[in-house]
Amino acid sequence: MTASPSRSGVFSASTDKRLEAFSESISFDYRLYRHDIRGSIAHARMLAKQGLIEEQEFAQIETALREIEHEIEQGKMPFRPELEDIHMHIESALIERLGDVGRKLHTARSRNDQVNTDLRLWLRDAIDGIDALLQELQRAFLSRCDRDGDVILPAYTHMQRAQPVLAPHYWLCYIEKYQRDRERLADCRRRVNVCGLGAAACAGTTLPIDREATARELGFERVAANSLDVSSDRDFVLEAAFVLAMIAEHLSGWAEEWILWSTVEFNFIKLPHQFCTGSSIMPQKINPDTLELTRGKSARVLGNLQTLMVLVKGLPLAYNRDLQEDKPPLFDSVETVRACLELAIPIVEGAELQRDSIASRLDKGYLDATTLMEHLILKGIPQRTAHHLVGKLVAMAQESGVCLSELTDSQLKSAHSDLDGSLREVLGTEQAVKAYQSYGSSNPERVREQVNRWREQLQ
Ligand code: ARG
Repeated sequence: MTASPSRSGVFSASTDKRLEAFSESISFDYRLYRHDIRGSIAHARMLAKQGLIEEQEFAQIETALREIEHEIEQGKMPFRPELEDIHMHIESALIERLGDVGRKLHTARSRNDQVNTDLRLWLRDAIDGIDALLQELQRAFLSRCDRDGDVILPAYTHMQRAQPVLAPHYWLCYIEKYQRDRERLADCRRRVNVCGLGAAACAGTTLPIDREATARELGFERVAANSLDVSSDRDFVLEAAFVLAMIAEHLSGWAEEWILWSTVEFNFIKLPHQFCTGSSIMPQKINPDTLELTRGKSARVLGNLQTLMVLVKGLPLAYNRDLQEDKPPLFDSVETVRACLELAIPIVEGAELQRDSIASRLDKGYLDATTLMEHLILKGIPQRTAHHLVGKLVAMAQESGVCLSELTDSQLKSAHSDLDGSLREVLGTEQAVKAYQSYGSSNPERVREQVNRWREQLQ
């Protein structure tokens, strides 16, 4: 049988070849085969339980579907555009094997609720896979916290040196961001995990099906309450695309930062050579291509979200063929983010901070100026006055080409009669870091608490 089983007796002409090529989705929705078969077995079991097919027929269908699954796994099923999509390929293979028994599988089902169900099952697994990778990435950052525990790095605002922080403060920052991504994934998963099977084309069915039974077997949390809604619903696809876009944004920002850090100008970090590439002409080059591609591929993930938003805009109820176009962007976002995460993990684990290079320039940029200002506030000087005063001291130090702690007692006095050498106790990046107090700051004790909290949480 080559004609699509979806073409009923109503047609007086076979499909134009150009339409076949235009409308096929097998070239990308083959990815759904496992989930399609899982959904079909659950559906057929329910049909048998409800007396819509014989138990014996269910047994034949289940066996044949498992054989077909094996065949696809082995790459033994040729994909034929005239069969449109993965659903039709599997059903045709079933009918080829079982004849009329195979023709009963699609009882009380439409491709509209089938594709919705398959996609939910596929996405649920994809979400779980991405979540596991995010957790692994968090652990990679956490593992650096002990290794880099005593390293002080400049924090930047406006890409200008701002205040000193501990390296683990940076690592914990990324752990927090990826934690929010994981929370978003978990929340999105709740809305993915709803069973649409039984909505049939758009209005439900006159046949006595048991939607709860199918939903239960497929591990869905609940059954969708409106057939029009679920058969047209792609909110869950858009939501997942957004969460993936956020993850891509986080990965891209991190990649950009480490690209900068790996330059001669920064020289903060050495990237593991297994994940760098060379130049075909310049022999000295060690290029951060993995990070550049992570940054670059995020563009596609963001674009996929845009594509999906526009795709569903203004669609009338219920299923429209437009919805077939939801799959390439969704698959691409999942696969791209997965690939980026798989490479981010070993890079985070394998990169080495260039401790000497970082330390040798830590006294540049007056990272301790804000701590000094706060020290003066504690001494009773109003914030605005202290802010102005320390600004004057920085200008003075710049003039003399020294850091704040190297200003002489008389220079301090000349700025304000209350200032003397005692303020040096908060100067220098190490003392500045120790002086932080607030919850969430880079105070070594606070940072240690956070590391311990994450260690417990990520165990
Ligand atoms: N391949 C189609 C899709 O992905 C399956 C649904 C086709 N449904 C229909 N009524 N033509 O959306």
